Amino acid sequence: MSPTREALLEAVSKVVDPVVQKSLKDLNAVRDVSVEGADARIVIDLLSPASAANEKILADVRAAAASVGAAKVDVVTGSSVRTRQVGADDPCPDVKNVIPVMSGKGGVGKSTVAANLALALHRAGARVGLLDADIYGPSVPTMLGIMGRPISRDGKAIEPLERFGMKIMSIGFLLEDPRTAVVWRGPMIQGALQQFLKDVTWGKLDYLILDLPPGTGDVTLTLFQRLKVTGAVIVTTPQDVALMDVYKSVSMCQKMNVNVLGVVENMSYFVDPAGGRHEIFGRGGGARVAEFAKAPLLGQVPLESIVREWGDNGTPVVQAAPSSPSAKAFREIAERLADRVTTELFDQYGGVAPTEGPRRLPILR
Ligand SMILES: Nc1ncnc2c1ncn2[C@@H]1O[C@H](COP(=O)(O)OP(=O)(O)OP(=O)(O)O)[C@@H](O)[C@H]1O
Ligand SMILES: [Mg+2]
Repeated sequence: MSPTREALLEAVSKVVDPVVQKSLKDLNAVRDVSVEGADARIVIDLLSPASAANEKILADVRAAAASVGAAKVDVVTGSSVRTRQVGADDPCPDVKNVIPVMSGKGGVGKSTVAANLALALHRAGARVGLLDADIYGPSVPTMLGIMGRPISRDGKAIEPLERFGMKIMSIGFLLEDPRTAVVWRGPMIQGALQQFLKDVTWGKLDYLILDLPPGTGDVTLTLFQRLKVTGAVIVTTPQDVALMDVYKSVSMCQKMNVNVLGVVENMSYFVDPAGGRHEIFGRGGGARVAEFAKAPLLGQVPLESIVREWGDNGTPVVQAAPSSPSAKAFREIAERLADRVTTELFDQYGGVAPTEGPRRLPILR
């Protein structure tokens, strides 16, 4: 029996997105349904292309269509990633989510985590930018294997570079020689960061990942003051000596009303090629930071030499060795992060996070 269009629409509309516990109808996510004989075609919007729940949602949509008699079901997916609060003076209103990756501690793998999460989100189908906000020690050019000067067509707007399909900006692109030290005072840093956010033509992005410098200094402060970030990702390693510094970055977020989306524990354990898992840096650091931050532990990334090797060679491990344990960990963390962004925005907006930033009203004269 062929389903009617109405019956199909009703069945599909009842499917629930488990991340926010709302039906596709409530989410306004069913864009189109059509029936031809016993064939159904359904177009839905997902809350994030990177969500871990997508497979289940698609299976539920297929089952719903079958339950009203569809024999062949064709599901087309789009996405409508929700957006952070965008004020009238926001430097990048078309960027739906701004997610700084930070840690009070140096060398814990912030840049590695930022690059791999950005790429994992992009590979899942999201529109992603990566901003190297480590003005003093940019490492994105090396980790992404990208050099060259961004061009400006009008002397003001700066075009970001592109690599692996992501838009990328780093102060490293502007230095004559990558070995040059950036000797700047606070106001110059603020100016540079503002330019990177405002004058770079990011276009419409679902996620802009920021690789922040270590510590709780000027760059982070300026960022938090200039715009409403969706929330921060905190990176730590498992050992106790790292934690005190990491707590400080959590405390900075709390003082500045920035939500911590989650904690990533990096270099968690070493996988012996001969078998066995060695916790060389101890254990539990990620969980302790997560508890302190009242945020979830998004995942643990193993210590693997290919992470460093591919980082040095300009291709993050999620792209270079997607089936490695570390790449798998990064992918899962990216999925959890995408879902945390969604739930965070629904919480902030009382359950109805908008898909686009508030539209500006025309100025009446
Ligand atoms: N899981 C991992 N396994 C192996 N090596 C790693 C891993 N994570 C990071 N590294 C390596 O550790 C070094 C430091 O990482 P990274 O530069 O990402 O840290 P960071 O926190 O950004 O440092 P900084 O504070 O200097 O900005 C790099 O050489 C990187 O390749
Ligand atoms: Mg770094």
